[in-house]
Amino acid sequence: MRQIVITRSGGVDVLDVQEKPDPVPGKREVLVRVRASGLNFADILARQGLYPDAPKTPCVVGYEVAGVVEAASEEADQNLIGRPVLALTRFGGQSDMVSVPVDQVSEKPERLSFEEAAAIPVNYLTAYALLVVMGSLKKEESVLIHNAGGGVGLAALDVAKHIGATTYGTASPSKHGFLKERGLDHAIDYRSKDWLPVLKQLTNGRGVELVIDPIGGAHWKKSYRALRATGRLGMFGISTASGDGLTGKWRMLKAFFQTPKFSPFSLLNRNRGVFGLNLGHLWNEIDKSREWMRVILDGVEEGWVRPYVDKAFPFDRVAEAHSYIESRKNTGKVVLTP
Ligand SMILES: NC(=O)c1ccc[n+]([C@@H]2O[C@H](COP(=O)([O-])OP(=O)(O)OC[C@H]3O[C@@H](n4cnc5c(N)ncnc54)[C@H](OP(=O)(O)O)[C@@H]3O)[C@@H](O)[C@H]2O)c1
Repeated sequence: MRQIVITRSGGVDVLDVQEKPDPVPGKREVLVRVRASGLNFADILARQGLYPDAPKTPCVVGYEVAGVVEAASEEADQNLIGRPVLALTRFGGQSDMVSVPVDQVSEKPERLSFEEAAAIPVNYLTAYALLVVMGSLKKEESVLIHNAGGGVGLAALDVAKHIGATTYGTASPSKHGFLKERGLDHAIDYRSKDWLPVLKQLTNGRGVELVIDPIGGAHWKKSYRALRATGRLGMFGISTASGDGLTGKWRMLKAFFQTPKFSPFSLLNRNRGVFGLNLGHLWNEIDKSREWMRVILDGVEEGWVRPYVDKAFPFDRVAEAHSYIESRKNTGKVVLTP
């Protein structure tokens, strides 16, 4: 089989497609023949050497796939063989084949293509955990979704619209038309102007009840200032650090020193909350994510979960796929196809 290997930390030239022996399913695992594999911002940071959770290089990353079960270990359900599925993979998803614990596998909804199905696990589980599980967003509340045009951003918009909350989203201006078509109430250009005064003006100076922020560093402090009383800030990424070589390392260091230290007294007196989410640290809580996935897959059937794939790149064009996301061209999900 072929795998996309990050040979060492660096620019897109460190990505290489290599021939490797086929995997064999371990205890309670199934072997999935991959038809599409999700590319996430974490994979970009892993290539740049800025993602602490990534395996040591040379490594194969990839947190999610959609494909067909080709084999199953004795302990796994044999009826899964031949079934189309989607799965969370703890790395190794960017391969022709991957072996996955059966608890991380769900049946692919018929109405979705393999590419659309591969756009579900990371984006929608993250959005669901942020907005519903930890953010407790309500119909009468409002939410600010940063990077609303990205993979997690569009998923969060689907979830927020389903709840019935008022939605504000920051995104590069070229994505605003599409975001409005998808139901975003207020699109804010954060690239050419300061988004906070614009948000304050749109909310009559009040701010919003929930902000989800994947940018990190000093940006978390600013997002905190956008909260209305009873507001919550969900922090879940550090894309501000993205960069190759020394640039990335310098940005990471800067973000670290600019990260706010929230005081319990300030939270108490202002009636605010802050929380963090790392989906990649929930492997020992798979029952929770299985329950969230059940709601999400029901949402596909009900029509409110609408995974949107911007582009599918074949494995041998993986470098272009990384550059596409790094240059902010993607609207929604980018997937890799064997
Ligand atoms: N903690 C978790 O469990 C978890 C899970 C999934 C994702 N995440 C985080 O959520 C964020 C979004 O992830 P994603 O996979 O859905 O990616 P994505 O949003 O599709 O990523 C690309 C988009 O992010 C925006 N962006 C912001 N800063 C950027 C930068 N420095 N360089 C390039 N693009 C930048 C750009 O859109 P605009 O210019 O239009 O804003 C770009 O199109 C990432 O920070 C990721 O690490 C965290």
